[in-house]
Formats: sequence, structure tokens, C-alpha cells
Amino acid sequence: MRQSTLHQLKVFETVARLTSITRAAEELSLTQPTVSMQIKQLTQNIGVPLFEQIGKKLYLTASGQELFVTCQDIFDRLSRFEMKIADFQGLKQGKLKLSTITTTKYFIPRALAPFCQLYPGVDIALEITNHERVLERLSENLDDLYIISKVPERLDVALHPFLENPLVVVAPKNHPLAGEKNIPISKLQNEAFIMRERGSGTRDAVEQLLAKYNVSVKVRLELGGNEAIKQAIGVGFGISVLSQHTVTPDSMSGLTILDVEHFPIERHWYIVYPADKQLSILASTFFDFLQQESHAIASKMRGEIS
Ligand code: PGA
Repeated sequence: MRQSTLHQLKVFETVARLTSITRAAEELSLTQPTVSMQIKQLTQNIGVPLFEQIGKKLYLTASGQELFVTCQDIFDRLSRFEMKIADFQGLKQGKLKLSTITTTKYFIPRALAPFCQLYPGVDIALEITNHERVLERLSENLDDLYIISKVPERLDVALHPFLENPLVVVAPKNHPLAGEKNIPISKLQNEAFIMRERGSGTRDAVEQLLAKYNVSVKVRLELGGNEAIKQAIGVGFGISVLSQHTVTPDSMSGLTILDVEHFPIERHWYIVYPADKQLSILASTFFDFLQQESHAIASKMRGEIS
């Protein structure tokens, strides 16, 4: 093992994370034979198989899994070390890895832009996906910080609310209930509904509220994204519930928000990370930045787009 190089470990970590030699070669800008050769040498040094191939798929063996976790630890520590050095030199630089739920799609670039202006040496890797997938990435320890909107069941996380995330009912402008005040929630019963995919936090919140008031809607269409849902509402598939943050005037032409009782569903965005994770200097700087600046960024965003 001691003969293995850091480079081999980096190659291994990339192949293990992407479960693909081809994609690892792309990410590392190496050829596939070079990647395979590095893995072969590392396997010989360690003396046990690290991967097994079943059909076309590559799986980590138990030893491979152990080495993967060890590599993540090594590279985390190295990047913290690099950042400490940068900090001694008065610089904040390095790569910030974030994974956030779909409803932050408008907000997060508006937060990252001023942050990157403050710290021009910072690179960002941003993954925007649904709640379930963000939680999976959290358990795999793939990123520095995560943004979710529901308190997770696992308790070994640090969780900090930083901004409200209300959910509202969106309908076509010419909907018969448009303009009515305090529409009884029971009226949703007769409506054709467009629902987010399973695994979406928005969907969970809607289902919980409807169940609480014994309302069952007719789900006519299930869609995997907020933008697609707005399009579907516009062409008459039905109504839906979306985060207010995704309801921007430029994407709302032909649509309106219905004033239904018990809406908006009041929720929050939370910054989350594993409780035992030591945040890099960069991650904790971004964490502080979000805590301090989010309200200003959100209200500027509303001003910009209204
Ligand atoms: P989703 O999460 O993208 O999983 O729906 C959004 C939210 O819960 O705000």
C-alpha cells in the first residue's frame, strides 16, 4: 500500500465515485488505458480486488468500499490543509461542492455570484436535484454542504434554517377560481393535479397537507421538474403546488397563484452537513455568507423579477 501514489488514489477515488472507467478518464483528462493501468497497479500493491465487474457494471468490493471512504477522508483533509494555507495567505480559494434541491434553482446562482466576486479564487461544483437525491449525496458524503427543505429523519446532521420556502397553488390565469379569496381546500378535490416525482420534498409536503384535510386530488400528470410543471399548467393539464421561489414573473405568463386556505405551506430551506464533518474554511465561509445574506439576496431577487 505504501508504494501507492496519491495520484493512484485520486484515480481510484474518481472511478469509485463515478463507477465508470470511461467517465473517470473524462473527468481526469486521462486516457482509459492509463486509468485502467493505475487501478491495476494499485490493486497489485494492495493485494486484494477493489472492483468487480458484473455485466457492464462496475461494483466496489468490500475492500474497495473501505478504500473509497479512506480516500474521501484523505482528500477532504488535503483540501482543508490547502485552504488553511490559503487562509494564512489571506486568500479563500479551492473548490466548493454543493448539492441543493430544485427549488433553489433561481436563488442559489444569485447567492453564488456575489460570493465568487468576494472570493475570485473559488470554483463551484453545484448539483441541483430533488430532496431524496440530495439526502443520498449527504449519506455518501459527496459534497461540502447540502440544502434541503425538510428535517431529515437521521439525527447525525447539523441543520440550520436560513430562508423561508413557502409552497403555493399555481393555476392557469383563466382558471374559474382565479381571483377568489380563501378558497376552501376541499375544492381542490375536483381539480386535475400535476404532481412532482416521488422523492421530491415539494410532493411530500403537498401529500401531507392534503392527507391532513382528507382531500384526494386526481393526479393527471407526474413531472420531474418545476419548469416542466409550469409549462404543463400553462397548456391546461391542471393545477399544481410549487415553491414561491420558482414562481418568477417571467415564467408565470398565463399563470396565477390561487388563494387556497392552508396555503402557502410554510417551510424552510436548511443548510445541512454530517454532524461529525469538519467543514473546510471555504465551506464554513459560504455557510456564514448564506446565513447573513440570504434575506437580502431573496428580496433583491423579488425586486429584480417583479
Ligand atoms: P424538491 O425539493 O426539489 O425535492 O421538491 C424542494 C423543496 O422541498 O423545496
